[in-house]
Order: sequence, then C-alpha cells, then structure tokens
Amino acid sequence: MRRTFILGGAITPFIGKRHPDFVWEKHPDFGKRENPTLEDTITSAVLGALEATSCPADLVEKAWIGNFVGELFCGQGHLGAAVVGAHEGLRYKPVMRVEAACASGGLAVASAHESIQAGTDIALAVGAEVQTTASARTGGDYLARASHYRRQRAIDDFTFPALFARRVKALREKGLLTDEDLGRVSVKAYANANRNPLAHMRAVKMDLETAGSVNPKNAAFLSNAELQPYMKMSDCSQVSDGGAAALIVSEAGLRKLGRSPSDAIEITSLALCTGDLYRDGDPTRLETSATATARAYAAAGLKPADIDVAEVHDCFTVTELLMMEAAGFCDVGQSAAMVREGRTSLTGDKPINTGGGLVGFGHPVGASGVKQVLEIWRQMKGHCGDYQLAKRPSVGLTVNMGGDDKTVVAATFRNL
Ligand code: CAA
Repeated sequence: MRRTFILGGAITPFIGKRHPDFVWEKHPDFGKRENPTLEDTITSAVLGALEATSCPADLVEKAWIGNFVGELFCGQGHLGAAVVGAHEGLRYKPVMRVEAACASGGLAVASAHESIQAGTDIALAVGAEVQTTASARTGGDYLARASHYRRQRAIDDFTFPALFARRVKALREKGLLTDEDLGRVSVKAYANANRNPLAHMRAVKMDLETAGSVNPKNAAFLSNAELQPYMKMSDCSQVSDGGAAALIVSEAGLRKLGRSPSDAIEITSLALCTGDLYRDGDPTRLETSATATARAYAAAGLKPADIDVAEVHDCFTVTELLMMEAAGFCDVGQSAAMVREGRTSLTGDKPINTGGGLVGFGHPVGASGVKQVLEIWRQMKGHCGDYQLAKRPSVGLTVNMGGDDKTVVAATFRNL
C-alpha cells in the first residue's frame, strides 16, 4: 500500500434558510442579491483548496467531484468540466463526477485514495450541492432518488425523513429511545454549530425544551399518519448549499509540494460498502455502516476505543445514535445513554460531529463526505477555532452514508 495523506483543503460556508447571509423571502436583502450558484460553489471550493494547500493547479493530476442531483436542483450536470472551469491550470486534466446519493463526497475521497494507491501523487476530491433552488417539499422528491424510488417514494412527500421516522418508531417500540434522547443529539449539534462560522445553523439556538418534544416551535411535519409522531423539524439535517475540496497526496506528492508529513494527516484505511437497493435490513441497526466501519478498523488495526474524534453521518438525529452503535462506540441500545452523559460533546471522551454535523453544520448532500474528512484534518491540525478540542486528536474516523444505509464510506485517520 502507498501511504495516502490529506494535506488540507477548503469548505465553503454551508448556507440555507435561517443562515444570516442566505437570501430568502424573510431576508432583508431579498430581491437585491443572489445566493451562490452550484458553479460558484464548485469554483470556491476548488480555488479555496488550492490556496489553502499552496498547490499550483497544474500539479493536480486527477480530480473527482461528488454531486448527487445537480441536474434536478440546478439544471446542471457534467460537473467534472465545472471543476476544470474553476482554474486554467486544470484544463485537460482527467476529472470525473461520482454519485452515490449522500455518499457522493465520500466516493470522491475513495476514488482519490484509490488513485493514489495506483500511482497518482496529487489528487483533488471535491463535493458540492446546491439545494435551495427548490422548496423543501420539492427537494424531498429529488432527494427521494436516493431511496428505491419506485417502491419507497410514496411513503411521504418527505421520503427520507419518513424512512428514518420508521427507524425511530422501531426503536421506540423496543423501548430503546425517547424524544428527549433525540432532542439531546439535536441540542449538541446546534451548540457545536453555534461555535462554527461555516455552519448553516451558526446563528440558530436550540434547547431541550424545544428539541425534546413536538411543540409549536418544533413541528411533526410528515403527512404519513403512522410515522408522523416520530420525526420533528429539530431531528433533520438541513437543506444546505455548500462545497468542500480536499487535496489527497502520496509521499512523493508531499515532496513535490515541498511539504512534510507533519503538515498532513494520513488515511490509515478506507472501506466502501454497498448494500442492496431493493431490500431493507433491521430498522434498529445500520448494517452496511457497521460492516464498512469494521472493515476500516480491521485494515488499520484499530478498535473503536482508539478513536479520538469522529464525523458520522447524522442525516437525522436517530442516524447519529445508530452510527455510534455501528461504529462500536457502545453496545446496541446504549448510544442514547452515551449522549445523555455528555460523552459525545466537545468536552466528552468521544467527541462526535464537533462542527455541528449534518444537523448543525448543514448537509449539502454531495459535499458532506468531503467536509467530514476535512473536519478531521481541521481538528487534528488545530484549525477549529471555538470548537477546537482541548487535546489534539491522534486517531479519527469518518462514516459517510448514501441512502438509507445503502452506500457507506468509512475511513480512519492518523495525525502526524
Ligand atoms: N406544523 C405542521 N407542519 C409544518 C409546520 C408546522 N408548524 N411548519 C412546517 N410544516 C410542514 C409544512 O407542510 C411544510 O411544507 P409546505 O410548506 O410545502 O406545506 C413542511 O413542513 C416544510 O416546511 P418548511 O418548508 O417551512 O420547512 P423548512 O424549509 O425549514 O424545511 C425540513 C424543514 C422539511 C425539515 C427540511 O430541513 C428537510 O427536508 N430536511 C431533511 C433534508 C433531507 O432529507 N436530506 C437528506 C438526508 S438523507 C441522507 O443523508 C441520505 C441520502 O442519500 C439522501
């Protein structure tokens, strides 16, 4: 195996409704200025990553871009060419778009990683999505393409919130979860996001009184009567616009850029697992995620107790709890207790989603997997400002999930 490093990169601000800079009908700038387009977002992420890593564009050998449904939200496909359009020096480089729903960004990282194994020295992994061009309800239909659309679309206008409400219902029926447990995950996500200038929810406060129940400030918004009680606004990841780009290099790549391993973190393992689109497993478990994480641990010779910081896919609050169990941070049924004890907060022994996760930082779906690995880099190198952990993490984990536990990219990292 060739050693593979992340030398840093850039995350654009994740914005959408309720973000102070995002223009929507309730914003004073409504009608006066426009939000960044998908093209702007890709350009910002690519140029930001080249600048942050002091990498001349012409030294990038290959690039990937993760994007889920640019055609539906923005009427734009063929995004490899949009990456090239960001900088003259990228002209005629091989750039490919990859797609696995919300794991599209993870797939871009996995592709860059594989390419380093195959001999590339400097690769760029980009992720981007702009989703605020449509209402949340129309966006629910677009995002439903990540499910088995023919079979699952009709469950609710908001297909994905409903699919995860089904998991909440199953856990509630087993007595493994309360609304307050989910509320605590949300309160932690928003509290972390409030410390993160890049986060979609950086200016929105969330308390347990609001997040811990259905109430006038926290609607149960599904129409499906059976599932409605099991999904609240505060449980959901955000409909965000944003991008991220990470420079992924070999040892020779580090040398070409005049950088040392101590500027980077190492990807110590990466596992990509794909489940069956047509069949769903136990709703109280994330089986594909557990398999991917176990493979990533085995390949790196790690165990769950070794992980100092983790970014796990929290498309809904229940997903973060199930991810903690899939990653082996606790026994099945024990994740809610871990959150209640504060163990996953910034001051806990197992900090999770320190910048706010998908619920607080936001979830521009194609960008999230790239953002996760950059968040580990930022924590390890001390770039997290107000949400920097007191002790620099040595070992990290990311788990990025597409669909309802269908495509999962799990990776482990070591600080150098
Ligand atoms: N009472 C009852 N219902 C209410 C309500 C209230 N007080 N307030 C709002 N609603 C209902 C309304 O029906 C409203 O829809 P309409 O306006 O069309 O009638 C609906 O809730 C949405 O309300 P808003 O548009 O005001 O809400 P919003 O824009 O703030 O969106 C959200 C909130 C619906 C929760 C939205 O943030 C959302 O959809 N989040 C989830 C995004 C998502 O699913 N992402 C993908 C995750 S899955 C994954 O990661 C894997 C993968 O591969 C896809």
